[in-house]
Amino acid sequence: MTAPGALVQISPPRRSVELTIDGDTVAAPEGTTILDACRQRGQDIPTLCYLETLHPVNACRVCVVEVENSRVLVPSCSRRIEPGMVVHTDSPRVRHSRKMVLEFLASSVDLSTTPHAAEWIASYECHPERYGPPAPPAAAGIRDAAHAGHHEPPDPAFAATVHQPIKADNELYVRDYGKCILCYKCVEACGIDYQNTYAIAVAGRGFDARISTEFSVPLPGSACVYCGNCIAVCPTGALMFSSEHDRRAAGTWDESRQSVVDTICPYCGVGCTLSLHVQNNEIVKVTSPFDVSITHGNLCIKGRFGWQYVQERPGNGKRTNGVPRRPRDIEAASNAAGKSRRKGHDISQRDGPQHDGPPHAGTPGDGDGKGSGHP
Ligand code: SF4
Ligand code: SF4
Ligand code: FES
Repeated sequence: MTAPGALVQISPPRRSVELTIDGDTVAAPEGTTILDACRQRGQDIPTLCYLETLHPVNACRVCVVEVENSRVLVPSCSRRIEPGMVVHTDSPRVRHSRKMVLEFLASSVDLSTTPHAAEWIASYECHPERYGPPAPPAAAGIRDAAHAGHHEPPDPAFAATVHQPIKADNELYVRDYGKCILCYKCVEACGIDYQNTYAIAVAGRGFDARISTEFSVPLPGSACVYCGNCIAVCPTGALMFSSEHDRRAAGTWDESRQSVVDTICPYCGVGCTLSLHVQNNEIVKVTSPFDVSITHGNLCIKGRFGWQYVQERPGNGKRTNGVPRRPRDIEAASNAAGKSRRKGHDISQRDGPQHDGPPHAGTPGDGDGKGSGHP
């Protein structure tokens, strides 16, 4: 029921569009994508660069389907349905295209933490090994230093890869670009879709293309405000909480033993929903549901990373579960928060206190929810 006095949005009713998917006649509201029309009938299609909270960028092409009378395969995540459209989601042409895309990815990128990658590779009978043994990892900084127009041809004895050492330049999250498929989701989340911080973008061209901070500076020297909204959307684990990365390295990360509990962030009046991932009675990471209209999965540094106080007490040298503390966890979070507050201060000095910034600008720490990195 609509609350008294609430605004009621009046818009024309959406027409129903009839089309054929894999031989079945189906109807869906106009404006629906082929992907959504398929999902509404319980049929899933692989996706990597698609997320319902982000604008589609059509970067990965793993979701392509065949539309009769269309010259090329179309990305189902962004192509809207039309009356009379005849769609084939699993034709030989579609399967061949997905196989090729997945083989290229698997031969050059570490997909070991990409959900469903292994099952898709098996299902589409991919053989990434036919491109040769993977090239050895690049030394640290080599890929970051590549200039457009100065591409070094790869060694034909190896399959070219993006393998390289991880970037662990802060205490909160690691960037393992050997797992990056260049899906652009982190760039969208950091920039125009939500955070409006623009700390990261794609640099370079062709196989040298990579996600980079400005001038490849380490994260603490960049514009990053540590909201972690890029981690939330990364589909491969290239961006990962340090808490998860450390446990995976130690062999103690076990999602089958984790529970997820929703609560409300205690830091300010926005009241974001936090999903606490708990393993062995310890919070191991914090996410936010994509389908909550307040945040659409986004948080600020405090909600995303500032939860150690729940289980650590100063002076005892231990976490409550007996694991030795990492004192720099809290120190790093508060330092980064201080840095973010300073950015907010700089903006108010420049533009005056009435300036609230863009709708998602990241200046967490105000305590009043303004500019706290939320939509
Ligand atoms: S943590 Fe936030 S500000 Fe930093 S790169 Fe990721 S999305 Fe951008
Ligand atoms: S770091 Fe993750 S989200 Fe960003 S482009 Fe690479 S795979 Fe996509
Ligand atoms: S999921 Fe559609 S192009 Fe990537």
